[in-house]
Amino acid sequence: MISSRLPPDLSPNAVSAALAARRAAGHPVIDLTESNPTRVGLRYPADLLERLADPAALSYDPQPLGLMPAREAVAADLGRHGPQVDPADVTLTASTSEAYALLFKLFCDPGDTVLVPQPSYPLFDHLTRLEGVQTAPYLLEYHGTWRIDLATVTRAITPRARAVLVVSPNNPTGSFLHRDDLAALVRICADHDLVLIGDEVFFDYPLDPAPEAAPVLSQRDVLTCALGGLSKSAGLPQVKLAWIAWGGPAPARSRALHAYEIMADSYLSVSTPVQVAAPALLERSSVVRAQLAARIRRNLSALGAACAAYPAVETLPVEGGWSAVLRVPALRKEEDLIVTLVTDDGVLVHPGYFFDFAHEAFVVASLIVEPSAFDLGIARVLARVGGGTA
Ligand SMILES: Cc1ncc(COP(=O)(O)O)c(C=O)c1O
Repeated sequence: MISSRLPPDLSPNAVSAALAARRAAGHPVIDLTESNPTRVGLRYPADLLERLADPAALSYDPQPLGLMPAREAVAADLGRHGPQVDPADVTLTASTSEAYALLFKLFCDPGDTVLVPQPSYPLFDHLTRLEGVQTAPYLLEYHGTWRIDLATVTRAITPRARAVLVVSPNNPTGSFLHRDDLAALVRICADHDLVLIGDEVFFDYPLDPAPEAAPVLSQRDVLTCALGGLSKSAGLPQVKLAWIAWGGPAPARSRALHAYEIMADSYLSVSTPVQVAAPALLERSSVVRAQLAARIRRNLSALGAACAAYPAVETLPVEGGWSAVLRVPALRKEEDLIVTLVTDDGVLVHPGYFFDFAHEAFVVASLIVEPSAFDLGIARVLARVGGGTA
């Protein structure tokens, strides 16, 4: 009775089972995969969400693309780190995941493909599948920095390809899209009539980006959708406000926006209170963002110091975002390692295979974890994989 949009096997994997067993036994787990900013001990001002109770939200004005004052506020906010965007080219969704769902519905027929980076965000498999769409991976290659292997992009294109997805900075590699790679992708999209979808949810968290890092809307040659949201930009995933900024040639853009509006009119999923509050939420977004940025720097520096004692472990450079990737000796399967870390050491990290790294062994840790938990968890991981004792 369940459609093939869902994976055939819904049973928990070995890591989830180990985690459940440890928790059921009443033993604590240090969660180094925690990426929910509301759970890592940040200070959220008590009045931060007060505009959600603005009486202006008592009247309902259904707008498929979003209320204009909210779209204006997003457009102004985007100007902080990218090219000017016209508020008419900003549309609102409840989350980035929902934005993906709408874009896949807009551009793809069932069975069409979208090109996705590898390694990258694991949810793409689900988000595409739920829309009856298939992923065609292209590779990011690591040579001191991560760059797109452009030959694999071209190889992944079939007559069913509709869009190329890029994540900048990427989760979990932390790599920004290089302007040369953007230029090459734009040529490929133009040649094959593909839409460029840029996930820039972590754009607000640069650490050490290459000077050549480029936002997807810095070009106007192909139809482009840049995705962002309060979830990461303001550390407010529970508030449920995200956006798509549309760029590219005017005729293609207005055609796509017109069709998108008709589709979004069937859902109208963004609540009025959050749209009314959007200007104030964006204005105060730096309150939590600054704490997150400081936390990330602090944890990354602690990680570097801790790893120094373990030459067999390498922390890959992080240009931006919320994750760190550790290359660890491939002495056994990643899954076995992660299960041992959970069961014997009480610490949870993501295995590299979760993000489809090309080979083993990598582990991925969130950089927003509360510092004392981060330090203890990392010490345990290093003791396990690097040969010392915590
Ligand atoms: C690359 C990437 N895109 C999108 C999202 C989800 O954003 P949202 O909460 O707006 O759906 C995440 C969440 O971790 C992410 O890593």
